[in-house]
Amino acid sequence: MNDVMLVTGAGQISLAIARRIGYGKKILLGDKNMENCRTIAKIMNDAGFDAEPFEMDLSSRESILAMIEKAQSFGEIKYMINGAGVSPSQASIETILKVDLYGTAVLLEEVGKVIAKGGCGVTISSQSGWRMPQLTAEQDYQLAMTPTEELLDLDILKPKNIRDTLHAYQLAKRCNEKRVMSECVKWGKSGARLNAIAPGIIVTPLAIDEFNGIRGDFYKNMFAKCPAGRPGTADEVANVAELLMSDKAAFITGSTFLCDGGATSSFFYGPLRPKQ
Ligand SMILES: NC(=O)c1ccc[n+]([C@@H]2O[C@H](COP(=O)([O-])OP(=O)(O)OC[C@H]3O[C@@H](n4cnc5c(N)ncnc54)[C@H](O)[C@@H]3O)[C@@H](O)[C@H]2O)c1
Repeated sequence: MNDVMLVTGAGQISLAIARRIGYGKKILLGDKNMENCRTIAKIMNDAGFDAEPFEMDLSSRESILAMIEKAQSFGEIKYMINGAGVSPSQASIETILKVDLYGTAVLLEEVGKVIAKGGCGVTISSQSGWRMPQLTAEQDYQLAMTPTEELLDLDILKPKNIRDTLHAYQLAKRCNEKRVMSECVKWGKSGARLNAIAPGIIVTPLAIDEFNGIRGDFYKNMFAKCPAGRPGTADEVANVAELLMSDKAAFITGSTFLCDGGATSSFFYGPLRPKQ
């Protein structure tokens, strides 16, 4: 029986990672948008992969559980890629928190309960979470450890305490990385590993929506003034995922890898530093 790989988000980053490591595996590809899902599954199947589209909503525990059950009908889940998400220009504060923050937390929790021995997962956070001022130790702990069903009741996640959709996205992505740290401890009990990749600007439909949104100039300036001087590609994110999902990363779990062309460094210590 082939290893089973559960992939959420039929977007460019998921596709690049799934193509890099999904050969010879049964791939269950989930997305809320079935048109995206069928298109990406077809691209993969036409290239010799074994991908099955599945309608799912990352913001719903019920839907996540249904996807896990479907994946398990093919065998034990050995790999997980979470590339589903919405960006600040695509959704409201509430939707960003429900999908990117809560949904990711539930997925990591539920897959962690059933992941095969020696399995591994990668979730896509964002450099955006690194551009926010430090949270307090107490807030970091709450984001890491609060039971998933109580997460959105935290004070810092109350919409009245969130300035705008970018702030909501930053909090969601910071939370992703904290959940990776807390969940990797549980995944480790099954000999499995879990990490995050925090991409910078990667040209995908999601990023193109940002370029065309109210923060378009901000993003264009960001990649122009980062050390790499350009936006990245999904294939470069897949380079990192390929390492993290391989045995060469056997000692890496609970980590987040920035893959942002140095934009975060430039934001703190270079030309992208905001004027005080
Ligand atoms: N592209 C970038 O510049 C960039 C940078 C940093 C982080 N990210 C993160 O990478 C991840 C993947 O984004 P991408 O750039 O590949 O974008 P993409 O638009 O190509 O793919 C995102 C996919 O997620 C799906 N999706 C949205 N809401 C969903 C839901 N509730 N349930 C299931 N699926 C849902 C969309 O339909 C879409 O197919 C996201 O979490 C995004 O925040 C992207």
